[in-house]
Amino acid sequence: MTRTRPFAAIILAAGKGTRMKSDVHKVLHPIAGRAMLDHLLGVLDGLGPARKVVVVGSGREQVEHLVEARKGEVVVQEQQLGTAHAVLQAEEKLGGFAGDVLILYGDTPLIEAETMARMLDRLNADDAPTVVVVGFRPDDPLAYGRILARDDGTIDKMVEYKDATPEERAVNLCNSGMMAVRSENLFDLLAKVGNDNAAGEYYLPDIVMLAAADGRRSAVIEAQPWEMAGVNSRAELALVEAEWQRRRRLKAMADGVTLVAPDTVWFAHDTIVGRDCVIEPNVVFGPGVRVADGVRIRAFSHIEGADIATGAEIGPYARLRPGAEIGEKAKVGNFVEVKKARLGKGAKANHLSYIGDADVGAGANIGAGTITCNYDGFFKYPTKIGEGAFIGSNSALVAPVSVGANAIVGAGSVVTRDVADDALALARGEQSERPGWAARFRTAMAAKKKSA
Ligand code: UD1
Ligand code: MG
Repeated sequence: MTRTRPFAAIILAAGKGTRMKSDVHKVLHPIAGRAMLDHLLGVLDGLGPARKVVVVGSGREQVEHLVEARKGEVVVQEQQLGTAHAVLQAEEKLGGFAGDVLILYGDTPLIEAETMARMLDRLNADDAPTVVVVGFRPDDPLAYGRILARDDGTIDKMVEYKDATPEERAVNLCNSGMMAVRSENLFDLLAKVGNDNAAGEYYLPDIVMLAAADGRRSAVIEAQPWEMAGVNSRAELALVEAEWQRRRRLKAMADGVTLVAPDTVWFAHDTIVGRDCVIEPNVVFGPGVRVADGVRIRAFSHIEGADIATGAEIGPYARLRPGAEIGEKAKVGNFVEVKKARLGKGAKANHLSYIGDADVGAGANIGAGTITCNYDGFFKYPTKIGEGAFIGSNSALVAPVSVGANAIVGAGSVVTRDVADDALALARGEQSERPGWAARFRTAMAAKKKSA
């Protein structure tokens, strides 16, 4: 269905979030490395809302930056008098807006675009319900508000758990809180909501009964329980993270990525992985990672802010930090850390190295234990290693320094001056030898011990 009416979104986020026990606003706690609220705003943006209004209580200053970056607006609900009161706070900002309104919760970040679209489509169906409510059937309905609906989805009543009779509590269709309402109906209905109930709060679900009193019907659509999972505590934050990860892993596999042990791979919100990549167990992606096709990421690697080209091999136990650019078929082996450095095509750093602020040419070989000494305690300096260069094991390259193409640095060197193309650089103590010294030493010491 193509939507012709514009829509606005009101996102409720004024709850105190007490159970998070945090100085950070609840909706800013991250899922897959991205604030919950940003997940929601991102999904919303995919549907092209005309307006986005976020209702916050305390902590406005924490949320504002993110909302403005997403071209949304913030309104403050000074006192948390209930969900209907919260939505009402957006009235002034939306003054004059004519269209559909989606009501969402900032602490329920897993809701999918498809569900939001279904809400709008249902609102605009031929029978034009006044309110569309998203319901769900969790394994344990806990203290959620209940929806009493007919088989065709028409809602007879919405009731909060606190106010419900035992029969009503036995209903397992729960209120997610998400709703769609036309702007021309929403604020009129909200104005009539009272607070004569068990909690003494202005309940948003009451608009369904207020519409019904006017002879207007409302409809429920159902969504998957996992989509409606809200975050009220750190434990729930972890559950929502787990659900997000579960879905992301399935998507990776559906896209042609082998996950040897899916449950042990952690993606970030923006991880991109190409086809025919193999990701071994216990790999963690931080934000900003792009992996091309046919890459193997071996066990226990930690990767963030990195770009990995086709056919490269990473790990086991590799650490790629922001600005790592790993070229085609390049190799970064165990206990190697790469930061803000490019490894050219086929370059190898296979063991125990730190490569930072560096440019490594194609086919270069970085020996075990090589360190780019990029920092003097005040500034960072670059290291350049030419194509085909060979850096012997346990070398320290003291930046700024460059090693020419096809040059060789002898093992154990401390390189402080540039090395020319094709040269051999040795920067280590010269070896001396005393023939027979060890044998004489042993004989003398053994005799001394015997007479002691
Ligand atoms: C609400 C619903 C309940 C539903 C449940 C789903 C009402 C009266 N009840 O209950 O039917 O099953 O959500 O999770 O709507 N908020 C504000 N300002 C307020 C109060 C709440 O912004 O004054 C925000 C909260 O930040 C939160 C959302 O609204 O994002 C829901 O508030 P919450 O207090 O969790 O509502 P529940 O009592 O759980
Ligand atoms: Mg709640």
